[in-house]
Amino acid sequence: MPHKAVKTAVFPVAGRGTRFLPITKASPKEMLPIVDKPLIQYAVDEALSAGADTLVFITGSSKRAIEDHFDSNPELEAVLQAQGKQDLLDTLRGILPSWASCVYIRQPAPLGLGHAVLCARPVVGDAPFMVHLADDLIDATVPCFKQMVEVFAAYNGSVLGVQNVPKQDTDKYGIVTLERKIAPRIGKMSHIVEKPKPEKAASTLAVVGRYLLTPGIFDDLSKIGKGAGGEIQLTDGIARLMQREPVYAFEFEGKRYDCGSKLGYLQATVEYALKHPSLGTDFANYLRELVPKLP
Ligand code: G1P
Repeated sequence: MPHKAVKTAVFPVAGRGTRFLPITKASPKEMLPIVDKPLIQYAVDEALSAGADTLVFITGSSKRAIEDHFDSNPELEAVLQAQGKQDLLDTLRGILPSWASCVYIRQPAPLGLGHAVLCARPVVGDAPFMVHLADDLIDATVPCFKQMVEVFAAYNGSVLGVQNVPKQDTDKYGIVTLERKIAPRIGKMSHIVEKPKPEKAASTLAVVGRYLLTPGIFDDLSKIGKGAGGEIQLTDGIARLMQREPVYAFEFEGKRYDCGSKLGYLQATVEYALKHPSLGTDFANYLRELVPKLP
C-alpha cells in the first residue's frame, strides 16, 4: 500500500553543541549564521520546499532563540514599518510562510538521536516524515529533501541521504552497506552500523543528516536500548526497521558541509558568502586580495 504524503519534518535540536563552546553556552548551535541566516532556517527552507507544512522541533535547554526566530515579532515589525524599511520587513515576514506550523517538544534528557525522534511520535502519527539534522548543510540545485521525496514516491520505503566519506572518518557516522544497487544513485540497504571504527567499517557510505522514514520506525525506537556512546541511536532503530521493510540509501546530488565542525562551518560560510546576491562580488574581491598574502 502506498504511504501517505510526507508533510512533517522533525528537527532534533536538543544537542548541546559542545564543539562550538563558548558560543553555544547560551545560544543554540542551530542559530549559528551562515552569512545572514541561521543554520536552522536553511533546514526549515529545505523541508518546506520538499512539501513539509508541519515543523517539529525537539528542543532542550537554552534553545528558546529557535522558537523566537520562527515566531512573529510585532514590536520589531512596527519599528521597521515606522522607519519605512519595507525590504527588512519582507525578510522578517518571509522567515516562515503562513501555512506552515511549528510544534516544539522538549526532550527531557539528552538520551540520543533515536530518543529525540521518538519524542516526535505524538505529532507525526501514522505518516512518513523527514528527520533533518541542521548541522549538515546541503547546497543543491534541487533541495536534498525534494530529491528524497521523489525517491520515496518511486520506491515506497524509507530513504536515507548518504555520501562517501574518507575511510578514517567512518567513526563519525552511521555507515550503510548495500544489498544491491537498484538505480545509479539508489541502493537497497542490508546493514547500518553507528560509528564503526575504520578497520571495522564495511563501507564508506555514510548517512549525512537526511532521513525520510516510515512511521514503523517508532515501534523500533521504543524497543531498542542504548547503543553506541550509551545513547538511543536512530541508526539502531533503522537497523531493526530494515528487517521488516526495505530501506534505501540515496546518494543525493549536492555539496554537503559539516557545520558541526568548525572547519566545515567556515567552508560553508565562505562559499555561501561568495554566492550571496548582494555581498558575493565584494567578498570575492576581498578574497582575491587576501589569498596571495596567505603564509
Ligand atoms: C548523527 C547520527 C549518525 C549520522 C550523523 C550525520 O551523529 O547518529 O548516524 O551519520 O548524525 O551527521 P552525530 O553527528 O549527531 O554524532
